[in-house]
Amino acid sequence: MDTDAVPDLNLTAALEAVSAARSPEQLAELRREYLGKRGVAARVKETIKSLSPEDRPIVGQAVSLFTAKITEALDAADAVAGPETIDESPIDLTLRGHGRKRGHMHLVTQCRRDLEDVFVSLGYQVAEGPEVESDWYNFEALNFPPGHPARAMQDTLYVDLGEPEQVLLRTHTSPVQVRVMESQTPPIYCVMPGRTYRNETLDARHSPVFHQIEGLAVDRGLTFGDLAGTIEAFTSAYFGQKVKSRLLPSYFPFTEPSAEFALSCVFCDGSGCRVCSNTGWIELGGCGMVDPNVFRSVGIDPEEFSGFAFGFGLERMPMLRYGVEPIKTFFDNDVRFLTRY
Ligand code: PHE
Repeated sequence: MDTDAVPDLNLTAALEAVSAARSPEQLAELRREYLGKRGVAARVKETIKSLSPEDRPIVGQAVSLFTAKITEALDAADAVAGPETIDESPIDLTLRGHGRKRGHMHLVTQCRRDLEDVFVSLGYQVAEGPEVESDWYNFEALNFPPGHPARAMQDTLYVDLGEPEQVLLRTHTSPVQVRVMESQTPPIYCVMPGRTYRNETLDARHSPVFHQIEGLAVDRGLTFGDLAGTIEAFTSAYFGQKVKSRLLPSYFPFTEPSAEFALSCVFCDGSGCRVCSNTGWIELGGCGMVDPNVFRSVGIDPEEFSGFAFGFGLERMPMLRYGVEPIKTFFDNDVRFLTRY
């Protein structure tokens, strides 16, 4: 008995194809081609019922022989080639895991904590106050005369509660100075970080929402020299020893005398560049000796105590340190920015 009686069942060619197959995938393909539901053997079997009674057993035996030989050859080849690479095993130890992304503090919070640490190491305490303030704390107790430009609508965001007393979003952290002086007796050494608001148009360096950190020292015999030394101490602690600070005369209603303080440019080391507009200096904030009128409004005797205060935008520090701009980058919460710092 021989499969040659049925020309479609070319056993020799099929066995050659099996021995030429190189991969488990090719063997699986051949198995489908010869032995599958619609394979060669199945198709020939289909024809048997239409054959003459004499031919039926001949073709039937040929198909059985073909099936047996090919099955044997494929099984032997499979044993050598190993399983198909589509591994049915539920655990693939070669797969990489997904890992877990860990969150971390926002850059503004990191900067705030770093500065708090610097001030705590200088003997300061940390205090906070409300973001929604009364006119008294934000302006009046701080010696803002009526009609001072900082009270004008274009700077201050007022909260309309329909009450006679004006309620506003604090325009600076200085109202916390007043709250601290009301509740503590000197000596006071305190820093007050927090969020502040101004009715300002967004640009590269200004935002209607930003953060400030305020410093206040009240003690016997404090001088302008103590203020200058404190500013030098915390700026070099944050930016490094080579950064210098300087004070220029300025005006604030709640300090007298008042000054603006600036840093030698951290980008060009003071030699002049685009960031510092070729001046070598970058303005950071305001400062001065606490005005006697402010002491009076909180019941501290200006004859007995003196004090200094300073305040500056918190975002300015990381903006300078890492070159982050525009300021809105801090508030967009773009994950690419958040994961970078
Ligand atoms: N509060 C001032 C401002 O927002 C800064 C300042 C703080 C000035 C303390 C002097 C003393 O501009």
